[in-house]
Amino acid sequence: VNSDNTGSHTQAVMHLLLSLQSPPGAVQEAMEVALNAGYRHVDCAYFYQNEAEIGAALQKKLGEGRLKRDELYVVSKLWNSFHAPQDVRPAFLKSLTMLKLDYLDLYLMHSPMGFPVRSSSPTPCSKQDQSPTKSSSPSLFSWQAMEKLVDEGLVKSVGVSNFNVSQLERLLSVCRIKPAANQVELHPYLTQSELVEYCKSKGIVLIAYSPFGCPALPCPVPLLENPTVKEIAQKHGKTSAQVLIRFHIQRGIAAIPKSITPARIVENAEVTGMASEPGALFRSWRLAEVLLSPERGETLHTSDGWGLVPKPSCTQQDLNS
Ligand SMILES: NC(=O)c1ccc[n+]([C@@H]2O[C@H](COP(=O)([O-])OP(=O)(O)OC[C@H]3O[C@@H](n4cnc5c(N)ncnc54)[C@H](OP(=O)(O)O)[C@@H]3O)[C@@H](O)[C@H]2O)c1
Repeated sequence: VNSDNTGSHTQAVMHLLLSLQSPPGAVQEAMEVALNAGYRHVDCAYFYQNEAEIGAALQKKLGEGRLKRDELYVVSKLWNSFHAPQDVRPAFLKSLTMLKLDYLDLYLMHSPMGFPVRSSSPTPCSKQDQSPTKSSSPSLFSWQAMEKLVDEGLVKSVGVSNFNVSQLERLLSVCRIKPAANQVELHPYLTQSELVEYCKSKGIVLIAYSPFGCPALPCPVPLLENPTVKEIAQKHGKTSAQVLIRFHIQRGIAAIPKSITPARIVENAEVTGMASEPGALFRSWRLAEVLLSPERGETLHTSDGWGLVPKPSCTQQDLNS
């Protein structure tokens, strides 16, 4: 791959991701609604540029005395610009300070790919920070620096994000502290069965990001509008969003849906009571997985308006089981 092209592609992706961020002020309010609604897992990252707002919301709620620190599970991530071992601790402390906490529950390496230039600017993602490094092993040295954060009691666990099986294997072969979690994109359009099985076999907790398929990004059939998902939702008297979250729970995977809309924040937490009889929803989900999973035979094609059509390899037996 031409490294110039890789760099400009990475920059384009970073700018797109930054453009999806919520407007200033919205996150603090959403956090307060979420904590009131019972959410306890707070997924943060230096890259999201909103840790100060989250810290303010946490401080307010903890200060009210109705929520204890040990009831929360606060996660942040080491940004790609800070993979150099000497940058890891300062980057972590920056997040910790903005979150106004004295420890984190989980610190993830945001990506196995580090950027070579260290950020000197207060803007975390200035253009010079965004060309990927050519080195194939920076994550191993960054990991050792992350392990030291555990030794210091600054974080309870360390983990990774966006790691595939071979990257995990490489890390597991050298790490002193095993990654507790791998946060990756997971939803019925991207079931990543091999990675899921691998992580489960190694005792690595999976955290599903973009559980709704990140609806802000263009998609021929947005997951929330997918007819199969809507059918299952209707059958169980739930919304598509609730069914998509339940999908992960039934796969034994944690999910981190994002919303700044109070009604949706509450809706997304109400994911119990879906199956009218034990196993009923699970059977529906097996059907959904067969229909939607690329590994099991999903194909999208344009001839009938991008409908989801099972390939011939998807048998009637699959559908019945
Ligand atoms: N580790 C990584 O590299 C990585 C990458 C991406 C994301 N993440 C994490 O995963 C989280 C979620 O991922 P995501 O934001 O990409 O995608 P997502 O959760 O799949 O989708 C979020 C979008 O869905 C909308 N939404 C939320 N609830 C809804 C509902 N009940 N009905 C209809 N629409 C609803 C939200 O709109 P409103 O906000 O307007 O309500 C928002 O536009 C992020 O916040 C981040 O913490 C991690």
